[in-house]
Amino acid sequence: MDDGKLISLAREVLANAYAPYSGYRVGAAILTADGRVFRGVNVENASYGLTICAERAALSAAVAAGYRSFSVIAVAAEGDKEPLPCGACLQVLREFGLLRVVVAGKKEEIRSFNLDELLPYPFGK
Ligand code: THU
Repeated sequence: MDDGKLISLAREVLANAYAPYSGYRVGAAILTADGRVFRGVNVENASYGLTICAERAALSAAVAAGYRSFSVIAVAAEGDKEPLPCGACLQVLREFGLLRVVVAGKKEEIRSFNLDELLPYPFGK
């Protein structure tokens, strides 16, 4: 699956994001090594620190379905700026290997990174 298709799958779930506090809706779609897609959105909470980001929601859905090997995660948001994953999400993604991260705001442009560019020094076991 190409990056554009995965970004469009991430954009599709934006509408389901629960972001009444920030107003910033994020959707993510993670591609397994064997070609399946799992999606997630950010889910905020009145106790702000309990918010879960879209990336970790997508990853958790995939792990719950029995997948542990991934090739790329796409992250989409409505703003002009691309939603680069936060440090917590990068560390959680890194647990499952070196996938690629593709991001897009509302513009057409898609940027692609290797996870180790975004998190060069992860905490390791
Ligand atoms: N957020 C994500 O879901 N993913 C990102 O890559 C960046 C931030 C969410 C968390 C919060 O609900 C909102 O965006 C504003 O920080």
